[in-house]
Amino acid sequence: MLVTCTSAKGGVGKTTSSIHIAALLASSNPTLLIDGDPNHSALRWSKRGNLPFQVVDLMSAAKHTRNFEHIVFDTPARPNQEDLEALVDGCDLLIIPTTPDILSIDATLETVDLLETLKCDRYRILLTIVPAGRKTGEQTRDALAELPLFKQSIRQYAAYEKAALAGLLVYEVKDRNARIAWSDYQRLGKEILP
Ligand SMILES: Nc1ncnc2c1ncn2[C@@H]1O[C@H](COP(=O)(O)OP(=O)(O)OP(=O)(O)O)[C@@H](O)[C@H]1O
Ligand SMILES: [Mg+2]
Repeated sequence: MLVTCTSAKGGVGKTTSSIHIAALLASSNPTLLIDGDPNHSALRWSKRGNLPFQVVDLMSAAKHTRNFEHIVFDTPARPNQEDLEALVDGCDLLIIPTTPDILSIDATLETVDLLETLKCDRYRILLTIVPAGRKTGEQTRDALAELPLFKQSIRQYAAYEKAALAGLLVYEVKDRNARIAWSDYQRLGKEILP
C-alpha cells in the first residue's frame, strides 16, 4: 500500500503521522518511509534514535522501493496544484492531517476542492493535535461532517515532542500518556488497513 501525507498548511502533524503510520504498517509487512520534505524532518527523526523501519530521502527512494510491501510518503506543506496531481497519481491513499483550528480547516477545504476537480476519491482527512478534554475536536468533526474523515482523531500529547526528540515512537518514550497516545494511531491503523 502507498500512503501519502499532505497538507496545505504546515505543522499539522504530517511527519508525526507518517512516522507512526509507517510503524503500524511495519508491524505486519516490510515498510519504507520516504521523506519528500527538503527539511528532512523524518530522516532526522530516524537518525536521532532507532525506528523499526527504514527512512530514505526522496532522492534515493527509487532504488529502495522494490523491496517493500508498504510505502509511506511524507511531503512538504503547501503542494501546488501540479504537485497535488502527482501525489494523487502516485498513491493508494492520500491522508490530509488537519488540526482543529479555522486556518487549518480552511486550508483543508481548499485542498478538498482541488481534489474534487481532480476527481480523486482516495483521500481521507485525519484530525490531529486535538486538545484533550475539550469540545474542539467534536466541533471540527461537525464542520467537516460531509467529508471523508477518519473516525479516529489523534489527540494532543507532549509525548510526541519527546518521541521526535529521542528519535523513537511515541510509546517508547518515558511519559505517562505515551501508551494512550499510541492507542490513537493503533485505532487509526484499523481504518487504514482493516
Ligand atoms: N498529536 C500531537 N500532539 C502534540 N504535538 C504534536 C502532535 N503531532 C505533532 N505534534 C507536534 O507538532 C509539531 C508539528 O508536527 P509535524 O512536524 O509532525 O507537522 P508537519 O505537518 O510535518 O510540519 P511541516 O509542515 O513543518 O512538515 C511538532 O512539534 C510535533 O512534535
Ligand atoms: Mg513535516
